[in-house]
Amino acid sequence: MENFTFQNGTKIIFGKDTELQVGEESIAYGKKLLLHYGGGSIKESGLYDTIIKSLQEHDIEVYELGGVKPNPRISLVREGVALCKEHNLDFILAVGGGSVIDSAKAIAAGAKYEGDVWDFFTGESPVTECMPIGVVLTIPAAGSETSTGTVVTNEEGWYKRATGHSKMRPQFAIMNPVLTYTLPSYQTACGITDMMAHILERYFTNEKNVELTDRLCEATLKTIINNAHIVLDDPSNYAARAEIMWSGTIAHNDLLSTGRTGDWASHDIEHEISGIYDIAHGAGLAIIFPAWMKYVYKHDINRFAQFANRVWDVELDLNDLEKTALTGINKMEQFFNSIGMPTSLAEVEIGDEHFAEMAKKATERWPLGNFVKLHEEDVYKIYQIAK
Ligand code: NZQ
Ligand code: ZN
Repeated sequence: MENFTFQNGTKIIFGKDTELQVGEESIAYGKKLLLHYGGGSIKESGLYDTIIKSLQEHDIEVYELGGVKPNPRISLVREGVALCKEHNLDFILAVGGGSVIDSAKAIAAGAKYEGDVWDFFTGESPVTECMPIGVVLTIPAAGSETSTGTVVTNEEGWYKRATGHSKMRPQFAIMNPVLTYTLPSYQTACGITDMMAHILERYFTNEKNVELTDRLCEATLKTIINNAHIVLDDPSNYAARAEIMWSGTIAHNDLLSTGRTGDWASHDIEHEISGIYDIAHGAGLAIIFPAWMKYVYKHDINRFAQFANRVWDVELDLNDLEKTALTGINKMEQFFNSIGMPTSLAEVEIGDEHFAEMAKKATERWPLGNFVKLHEEDVYKIYQIAK
């Protein structure tokens, strides 16, 4: 096991009606708040009214910025930065999913910086200061509610890039599984795929003595798999929605990375796709992760066979571990298909015209991954497998 420091300070407030506590939680950070949200789902569900009422009860002055798109854009982030600076706001409340939270995190850092906020994403400048942010989560998926990262797309060149800092981690995350009942099944499935991918990125490591975190990863994956069809068939099933929601946070709050180095190439390879084609991140991962696995599994067949056996209940064939490993990858693809996810680029009508450009952009700063280091030509081949 590698040395590690684990500190995740986000206060999690989980369960029914917890959104009613948003005013009380927010007032601890000041009187003037930016309410940040997406394309309107919170207005349709009535959550917006609940939040406004709770904030008003605590005499909080609310400035609003809605309109965050999935795969959030730097142009809106810049608007948010300007609002925070102009009105000297104290706090940002993100109500929505990963896109809204990531946009809020970027605003939080940009508001404390003299230069252009995109500098954080190019590596031009490190994040040093941040406004505090809070979250009311409406889709379990990205895990951004307790993570230190943010992923934003620059419309100039369609670069989708990540940055992060411990100060970006939300102060609190309110998580009521009931708020996820209104999710369309496609978004539920995208979220399920993303949280599974966050575990897989950590699972495929070269570190040998990681039994506890292996088992925690496998248990979280199994919980997600066991509850996925329940929430898709019965969207208002509280027990299953709660298991999925909590799994999404556990998948990405860094507990599962303790003592091990994860891979993360599949995320970088996927970000090029959702950056250019604007598809849902989870759907992109359902396509890229199996392709990545097929490209790298020979690097550690034992680990892939363990994954097949413990997560997908494939019988271990000690005489042919490669067969066990490949059966596991196949079962994972079948599962993604069964929840309505694509597993090939053709299914989302993406051809090979940008493969070379995406492979170049993905690797222009450094090679991808840690389990196996991938260069431009490797990434190109993975796009070919994903065709
Ligand atoms: O825009 P609104 O109206 O909010 O609608 C959203 C959006 O259309 C809708 N939705 C959310 N909650 C709903 C709902 N519709 C009905 N009822 C509800 N309760 O769902 C759609 C997708 O929302 P989005 O926020 O984009 O989803 P997600 O949470 O999957 O976030 C995806 C983004 O997170 C990034 C991804 O790259 C992508 O840009 N990631 C962020 C990470 C991080 N910061 O740690 C890590 C991840 O790996 C990921 O890269
Ligand atoms: Zn992800």
